[in-house]
Amino acid sequence: MGRLRVAVVTLCVLLARVQSLKLADPCNEATCKLPECKCSGTDSNSKIPIDKIPQIVLLTFDDAVNYLTYDYFQDALFDLKNPDGCPIGVTHFLSHEYTDYTKVHDLWKRGHEIALHSVSHSAVYNYWRNIDVKTFSSEFGDMRKIVNYFAKIPSSELRGVRLPFLQTSGNVSFQAMKELGLLYDSSLPSIHFVNPPLWPYSLDYQSIQDCVIEPCPTASFPGVWEIPMTVWEDQNNIPCSMVDSCLNIPETGSGVAQWMIQQFEKYYKGSRAPFPVFMHASWFSKNEEYFKAYKLFIKHLQSLPDVYLVNMNKAIEWIKNPKPLTAAKPFGNCEVRKPEAPCPTPLSCGYYNQGSEIWMTSCASKCPANFPWLGNPLGN
Ligand SMILES: *[C@@H]1O[C@H](CO)[C@@H](O)[C@H](O)[C@H]1NC(C)=O
Ligand SMILES: [Zn+2]
Repeated sequence: MGRLRVAVVTLCVLLARVQSLKLADPCNEATCKLPECKCSGTDSNSKIPIDKIPQIVLLTFDDAVNYLTYDYFQDALFDLKNPDGCPIGVTHFLSHEYTDYTKVHDLWKRGHEIALHSVSHSAVYNYWRNIDVKTFSSEFGDMRKIVNYFAKIPSSELRGVRLPFLQTSGNVSFQAMKELGLLYDSSLPSIHFVNPPLWPYSLDYQSIQDCVIEPCPTASFPGVWEIPMTVWEDQNNIPCSMVDSCLNIPETGSGVAQWMIQQFEKYYKGSRAPFPVFMHASWFSKNEEYFKAYKLFIKHLQSLPDVYLVNMNKAIEWIKNPKPLTAAKPFGNCEVRKPEAPCPTPLSCGYYNQGSEIWMTSCASKCPANFPWLGNPLGN
């Protein structure tokens, strides 16, 4: 009897899973309304005239955070404020290996957003392309547990996903995100919608976005948002989905900064859709001129009274409840960050992972017995 019950329940759960994947219908603005729903498109749907829309800039970094990358963040971004007096926001899509979770804790307390970029960051593209919901949930759900436990950041504040190599798997990642209660993905490049670019949108309905890296989602995922990776263009007009994948760029810091400002102005003097500045911090160590350029570019943005550097979650919040530049606080009150627990003296623990020695520094009070990994995020 008990066995049968279990089998019936399991079957129902499986059926519910299959049935819950409903093909997305074309978006209808009469039924898809803010704040819950936004059709994909080039309009903010805010009814705010373009010159009263705060220009959002989305600064993101992928991969590990450790003392090497932290120094760049400190040098270029710490203590900067937006025109409303609140600290600027940045988003880090964090992978596990070589991450120092005490640095992650520190960045988060300063107003940076921590988002998820998987535990394994496997270099096998087909692993991501063919991934199933269970493995995806482990890659991103376990990463959330790792960051929560070792950086003392509340799980509810870990909301975003970017896939390694931007290799999505059709509906799978979005279905898993929905089950994990995650808010947004930012893994889908767009080459077609550059001028004007797409605004971030929800996946309740069919998206008009071009599918650059197959397969893209086609089912309906109410409440899950997509922040498109609208490409930049290098000096030969070759599209690049991340700044550091643009190859034909000037050589000097001021030349590169000028080129970055040109990309920005397409948005700032255009539709004022959020401007993506997506990269890996390793770009800075490739050429010191690139880091100079980045700092010059940030300095330029900071000289403009209507430009806001906010993290991705805050950008989605603005899109859901848009307020004009003339509002007292277009982005609401400044965020206050309350860690789950303080991060005491950094603790470094050594392991062998897949045959090589690896160290992990974290806010934990004692070394876990094993290197935290898929299926054993706390390293028990
Ligand atoms: C995604 O889900 C929709 C709706 O069930 C289905 O039609 C489509 O084939 C799925 N896509 C993939 C790549 O499995
Ligand atoms: Zn990566």
